[in-house]
Amino acid sequence: MEEILNQYKTVHPNDATIWFKAGQVTDFPTNRGGCIKYKNKQIAIFNFARRNEWYACQNACPHKMEMVLARGMTGSTDDIPKIACPMHKKTFSLVDGSNLNGEEYKIATYPIKVIENEVFVGFLE
Ligand code: FES
Repeated sequence: MEEILNQYKTVHPNDATIWFKAGQVTDFPTNRGGCIKYKNKQIAIFNFARRNEWYACQNACPHKMEMVLARGMTGSTDDIPKIACPMHKKTFSLVDGSNLNGEEYKIATYPIKVIENEVFVGFLE
């Protein structure tokens, strides 16, 4: 389980050295998640249309290592965009990956940008 989690480290926008083309805007549902694969990583991508924002994070939920976060429900708490895991409803900030239930679990988040209808996710390598 550690090995799976170790693949995922938060990337800050200024640190990204690779911008991977994840797809077209229309490839991703609005206000829900889609999943892409980059090398050995599964990345959940959220077109959070209600906020006019996009987010990317690891697809693996750190609670039971299920690859499910892309199927979670998006929402906001105190104006923080969040994702609720569909399995046991643990919720994570899509901004910094912190757990909003006050637990230790956290997720890696990745920078994302949309240029002329194409969606790019930033990685370190
Ligand atoms: S597997 Fe995600 S909350 Fe349990």
